This record gives sequence, structure tokens and C-alpha cells, in this order.
Amino acid sequence: MILPPRLFTLFAILPLAFALPSPARPSPDVARSSSSLSRPVPVVIWHGLGDRYDAAGLLSLKQDLESRSELENIFVHIVKIGLDGAADQKATFFGNANSHIELACEQLSALPEIMDRDLNPSGKFDAIGFSQGGQLLRGVVERCGGKGGLNVRNLITLGSQHLGISALPPCPPNSSIFSPCRLMHLSLVHSSIYSSYAQNNIIPAQYFRNYNDEVELAKYLNGSSFLRDINNERIEDLESSTISEPRNETYNDNFKRLNKLVLLRFSHDQTVVPSTSAHFTLPANSNSTTPPLPGSYDALPLKDLPLYQKDYIGLRSIDERGDLVRGVCKGVHMQIGKKCWESVVAFLGERGERGPEEAILDEEEYHEEHSLVFQL
Ligand SMILES: *[C@@H]1O[C@H](CO)[C@@H](O)[C@H](O)[C@H]1NC(C)=O
Ligand SMILES: *[C@@H]1O[C@H](CO)[C@@H](O)[C@H](O)[C@H]1NC(C)=O
Ligand SMILES: *[C@@H]1O[C@H](CO)[C@@H](O)[C@H](O)[C@H]1NC(C)=O
Ligand SMILES: *[C@@H]1O[C@H](CO)[C@@H](O)[C@H](O)[C@H]1NC(C)=O
Repeated sequence: MILPPRLFTLFAILPLAFALPSPARPSPDVARSSSSLSRPVPVVIWHGLGDRYDAAGLLSLKQDLESRSELENIFVHIVKIGLDGAADQKATFFGNANSHIELACEQLSALPEIMDRDLNPSGKFDAIGFSQGGQLLRGVVERCGGKGGLNVRNLITLGSQHLGISALPPCPPNSSIFSPCRLMHLSLVHSSIYSSYAQNNIIPAQYFRNYNDEVELAKYLNGSSFLRDINNERIEDLESSTISEPRNETYNDNFKRLNKLVLLRFSHDQTVVPSTSAHFTLPANSNSTTPPLPGSYDALPLKDLPLYQKDYIGLRSIDERGDLVRGVCKGVHMQIGKKCWESVVAFLGERGERGPEEAILDEEEYHEEHSLVFQL
């Protein structure tokens, strides 16, 4: 079960080589006496495929947030699906995304550090989604937000698959045949992506969306149990201009309540196919190499997508009021360099209310500043 981290480039293992200072925690007395009103907005992290809530990489990021003086007393929660780390890791491959979202909503609603106004005067939290954790958290925002529900301030996703994947992520070359990754691939040999088995039991199948093939796309619209729903995509009959079922207006209402939506993609992501998914779009040229060559990024402008044009989920509304930020982190999938992490942190705490207007990180600089990318 312990996978060699360097090889395991699947959606979500975080770099362990994050050289973090040991946290200078305020003494408990100081923490208690400081005004509760100055408490920063709490943070919720949902990790990606193959990762687990108790992994060293995740815990070091949590610790990094907790140790920052500008985020003093911050509460950080890592979403946990399953009773222990191994079960949580397994649940990233197997299970039902809709149920996992329900579980996460229950878990977060039961946290006094988030829900209790004495402990969290803002009543809100910021959500950071790594890879597939990004679209799962978006599900939390759309389904469990709104009046009396969970109140997410900023949603920040890194390398997430908002417009799906058109190829399954590869397993590490020599992972055991009993590894969850191999078992997942094996189960999809035996049942098709949109079978009810896969749509209830294999998480990546539930955000599989082959944009490149009309027949496959029709299967997605008919059979996807998760992504199609949270993207408010419906089967449309263009002649009679009717749709199979109404789009869920609640999703749109809740999503628009976000203060900021921050979508970060990795410049050299070859794990997420198409990598444009992290920016909530598709490749501009469906003939472009898949996976694209590093650095060759060719994305459709948002305005060319029906989901955006017709504002299925409120993405356009967020963008038009200036609260959509799309940025690039240098590196391969889920190799979070220092600069990348700092651009996430810029949307937390007091600064997070306005946030920087753009998440920096210029792709062209990649080669020159290679050392910024921490290796596993
Ligand atoms: C829309 O989503 C909300 C929240 O998940 C749900 O309660 C409601 O039943 C949905 N409405 C429709 C028409 O599906
Ligand atoms: C994978 O292969 C490499 C080199 O072939 C080897 O060093 C490593 O131990 C292998 N890992 C596992 C989990 O078998
Ligand atoms: C649509 O999905 C149903 C099951 O939900 C299946 O019976 C039917 O064959 C599917 N239709 C197409 C065109 O894929
Ligand atoms: C993509 O490839 C197909 C077949 O090779 C070709 O007919 C089509 O014109 C190409 N499209 C673009 C946009 O290059």
C-alpha cells in the first residue's frame, strides 16, 4: 500500500520535501486571550486520488498554515472519508462521489470550529481542493451551501478536473497488482465507465468526460452520476429546445455565493488529460496532442463553452464580477512549489477577502526557475 512517492504521480501525492520551519505556536494562554473576533477564517482541505488525510505531505501544509503569524489561531481541517488513513486512501479510488460529498458535508457541519459563531465569528471557511478533491469540494459548495448551510468563502483548486478527464490516470509503473490503482484499472476493464457499477463505485469514472468524441459525450450526458450533475449539464434537444431535466438552480445560487474562485493548473501537468480541465475549460484544438507536450497549452476561451455562456452553474457570474482567478503553478501535477503554495495562501486569512487580482506564476519562467519546484 505504501507507494513510492516519486513514481506515484497520480492525481495527488504532495511533495514531502516541503522545507518548513518548525511552527512557532503561541502559548495556549496567548491563544485564548486573543480576541476571538480576530480569528482567521478556517480552512478545509480535501486531498486527491491516492492520498490520505494523515499523509506527511498534507500534514506539513496544515502545519505551515498554523505556524504563520498572519494566520494565528487558524483552524485547519483535512476532510477524512473512512475511519483510518488506509480507508481514506482507498475511498479516493472506490466509492460514490455523491455519498462522499454528503459525508463531507455532515463532517464539516459537525465541527464547532466552523459552525459555532463564538469559535468562528465569520461563519465561513476557505476550501482548498487538491486535484479530484477540487471538484468534490465544488460539490460541497453547490449542494450544501446556501442559507443555514455551509458557507464557503474562497474555493481554491489545484490541478482539479472541473471539466472531467478523457483518460484514466496511469498507475505507477511497478505498483503492486493489489494496489488500489491497479484494482481500479482492472475493474474498468470488466465494466464500462458509464455502467452503474462504475458510476457507483469507481470515483474517477464519475468525472470521466470524453470531450473529444460525440458518442462518448452522449454516454456521459446519459450516464455520469456525478460530474454531469454538478456541472448542470443536461441532454438538450436542440430542435425542440427542451432539456431532459431542469438544471439545478440551487447549484447556481450556491456557487455564486463564493467570494473568490481560484483555479490553479500545473504548467507541466501530464497526469490530468486534458490539463485544461483545471482551468474549467477544454483544449482549443481537439487534435492537440494528448497528453500535451510540456509547455504546450492551448485552451478554449471560457466564453466558447455552453456551461459558461449559459451560466449553468454561475461560473460566468463569478467571472463577470471579477472574482474568478486562474493561475499557473510551475511543475508537473501536484508538485506544489513554494511560489505556488504562497499564491494559495494569498487567498486565506484577512488577505483572502480581496485576494490578489491574479495568481502569478508565469509559465515562461519555468526553466529558469526550476529550483522553485520542490521534488518529491
Ligand atoms: C438541487 O440541489 C439541491 C441541493 O443538493 C437538492 O436539495 C435539490 O433536490 C435539487 N433539486 C433538483 C430539482 O434536483
Ligand atoms: C520499482 O522499481 C524500482 C526500480 O526498478 C525499484 O527500485 C523499486 O523498489 C520498485 N518499487 C516497488 C514498490 O516495487
Ligand atoms: C442511458 O442510460 C440508461 C441507464 O441509466 C441505459 O439503459 C441506456 O441504454 C442509456 N442510453 C444510452 C443511449 O446510452
Ligand atoms: C483534426 O483532425 C481531423 C482528422 O485528422 C481533421 O479532419 C480536422 O480538420 C482536424 N481539425 C483541426 C482543427 O485541426
